[in-house]
Amino acid sequence: MKNLFSFLLSAILVVSCTSSEPKTGSLAAPEPFRPLIHFTPDTGWMNDPNGMVYHKGVYHLFFQHYPDSTVWGPMHWGHATSTDLVHWEEQPIKLFPDSLGYIFSGSAVSDSLNTSGFGKDGKTPLIAIFTHHKIENEKDGTNKHENQSLAYSLDDGATWTKYAGNPVLKNPAHRDFRDPKVTWHDASKKWIMTLAVGDRIMFYSSPNLKDWQKESEFGDKVGAHGGVWECPDLFPLTFEGKKVWVLIVNLNPGAPNGGSGTQYFVGDFDGKTFNPIDTTTKWMDYGPDNYAGITWSNTGDRKILIGWMSNWLYANQVPTKKWRSAMTVTRDLSLQKIGDQLFLASIAVPELDKAAGESKVVENLEVKGKLDLTEKIGGYKLPFKLDMELTQADDFSLVLSNSKGEQMVIGFDKKANQYFIDRTNAGLSGFHEKFAGKHTAPRIGSSAGIKFSLVVDVASVELFADNGLSVMTSIFFSEKGYDNISIQSDIGNKVVKGAMKRISNSVK
Ligand code: FRU
Repeated sequence: MKNLFSFLLSAILVVSCTSSEPKTGSLAAPEPFRPLIHFTPDTGWMNDPNGMVYHKGVYHLFFQHYPDSTVWGPMHWGHATSTDLVHWEEQPIKLFPDSLGYIFSGSAVSDSLNTSGFGKDGKTPLIAIFTHHKIENEKDGTNKHENQSLAYSLDDGATWTKYAGNPVLKNPAHRDFRDPKVTWHDASKKWIMTLAVGDRIMFYSSPNLKDWQKESEFGDKVGAHGGVWECPDLFPLTFEGKKVWVLIVNLNPGAPNGGSGTQYFVGDFDGKTFNPIDTTTKWMDYGPDNYAGITWSNTGDRKILIGWMSNWLYANQVPTKKWRSAMTVTRDLSLQKIGDQLFLASIAVPELDKAAGESKVVENLEVKGKLDLTEKIGGYKLPFKLDMELTQADDFSLVLSNSKGEQMVIGFDKKANQYFIDRTNAGLSGFHEKFAGKHTAPRIGSSAGIKFSLVVDVASVELFADNGLSVMTSIFFSEKGYDNISIQSDIGNKVVKGAMKRISNSVK
């Protein structure tokens, strides 16, 4: 009887312990700075998003992960999945370091034609293409410590097998030779690998993902070269009925607001060479905290991007305890023409609106001086998306604040023709001298009024202005959390419409 009693008691304890365990992506038990809808690993370090592939209704997100510490270390591929691009569920780690090295960044594809031969019994293989980084050989002088390798899954991403013939692309002797992004090039019926090599891009092609041949290089005297090029991406977007190619190149350091950032080029790709239409350096996101972003494969004409919401300047020092770093919200990419130039625009995916309840709408508000919006929009409840339309492209600022004097200021400066996010007094910043500050983004759009969306979570703000032409992502660490939102315009402005949407944060 005693035994049965203690068995029942321990069974009750086990059940209650597991059910009270907070799931990643939700906030069952509040932890300081843990986002509600931005993916974070439950425990440990995270950097770049990796291997994003859409397969059988599931968006797979892998990520650079060191589970044993909150500072960067031996890299694994962590794994998370989502069916709606908003709510993420962490899965067991999928790729572990091995004798060829750490598992650095890369991509994944669905090999539906079984070009690789990994497919069996009619099962489509998912194939990850990643960099093996042999840390012990970094200083041996040969510059051959980074090589490209494969792993495949025949059970829809649940388990992965590393290819026995790894590495498939050996390093000829480049110190930085990494982050393969592979895509199927339909016109030439080949796989194309876009690889970051020092401060250049190299394109390789392959019929089967195993044998690779160099096609060309890009980057000489083009773009920003303030640091090493990393995590590239190459994909077509349709603009006015034509296929236009976009080459994304992440760069660290050398971003417009310091540290890491993402530049892009618009042009043509014929299966061998990328030719830019124009050579102006353009940035996808001017905020300090969107790095290493690349797109999902296997999503047809739709191109969806996610980035790592941090910056190498201070990523290892941000004041979270159990985990470090979050991803951005997922974003849809498109091309827009302003004057005679094409720009890459990014906006939060519409799935975010679908995950929101009824909007609380304010209309025709005259703003002269400071206007408290908190009550008008139904209180300050995270996470939210605020879509706003102002009559004039003139000075204004939105202030997220609390009674402790902490504030995030987001706005537009007409004279400078710039959007800005000022996190100087946003909260904790002493962990790095470069964290506090005001960051700016040029206004590229030219409409008379201003339209923008703001996605706000516990520790981040993402600003998408002018339909995603000027984008800024900025993290912050408010100790108390904000509870007030106000809008200010000293010259006078008018809110045509403001729609506040609360996004559901329950894990599906
Ligand atoms: C970019 C990066 C990649 C590399 C990975 C290592 O943030 O430096 O170039 O593969 O992180 O974690």
